[in-house]
Amino acid sequence: MIHAKKQSSNNTRELEQRIENYWDKRSADFSRVRRRELDGPDGELWLRLIETHLPGENLRILDAGTGAGFFAILLAQRGHRVTGIDMSSDMLHEAKKNMTAEGCQAEFRKMSAQELDFPDATFDAIVSRNLTWTLPDVMEAYREWYRVLKPGGILLNFDSDCGKVTFSKKDEQTDVHAGISQEMVTECNSIKEELRISTHIRPDWDISYLKELGFSVASDADIAPLVRKDKQLRYDNIPMFAIYAKK
Ligand SMILES: C[S@@+](CC[C@H](N)C(=O)[O-])C[C@H]1O[C@@H](n2cnc3c(N)ncnc32)[C@H](O)[C@@H]1O
Repeated sequence: MIHAKKQSSNNTRELEQRIENYWDKRSADFSRVRRRELDGPDGELWLRLIETHLPGENLRILDAGTGAGFFAILLAQRGHRVTGIDMSSDMLHEAKKNMTAEGCQAEFRKMSAQELDFPDATFDAIVSRNLTWTLPDVMEAYREWYRVLKPGGILLNFDSDCGKVTFSKKDEQTDVHAGISQEMVTECNSIKEELRISTHIRPDWDISYLKELGFSVASDADIAPLVRKDKQLRYDNIPMFAIYAKK
């Protein structure tokens, strides 16, 4: 029994390491697309959507799985006090470079979204985009997010039901995923197969678990048409759901 438990925690650590390596390798190319998003029309569209749901100005906000800092930078530019966390050191390096280029101030820390190093009730809001599909334990992440939100705090989670999709290599230069090698596409699909979240129907599963935790929840099935208008960026056409949850 003890042996089986040890084996399973070794497997989890191994999987987490693979996920971290994958995003480290993707960081430079990923950051290039995020810079375009920040500088093009879509950044403003995202901000408009997010601000509709934020409870005020000058908020303490956590960007979970910040990547190259997209949400963190947008919100810091609006005067919020933002901390972006990510497991990938290379992504955080890109986030800091992008923040300097945009001339704003946010804090970036290496940390797992499933195990937060913050006291209870620290944040007014948590924002997250395209993170939860790539987590080994989304329930743990949601429990942690609930813990660090202040009462009345808001969680905005934007993601897609990637579990049912098999990614393929994109060659069209304008495609946002054009820089990803076949080897990386194969690794991404293989990681996805290992994740329990890939077996759930989303966002239904998320909504029901968040309610169980005590959140009140609203959602949109697909916000992609609202925030992906930049003609120079060709995104995939998987719907992007939005979850707006209040503690
Ligand atoms: C698809 S990217 C999204 C980045 C950013 N939110 C955006 O929309 O541009 C997913 C990010 O989640 C990060 N990530 C994966 N597992 C994580 C974990 N356990 N804790 C924190 N970040 C994680 C990856 O390193 C990567 O930067």
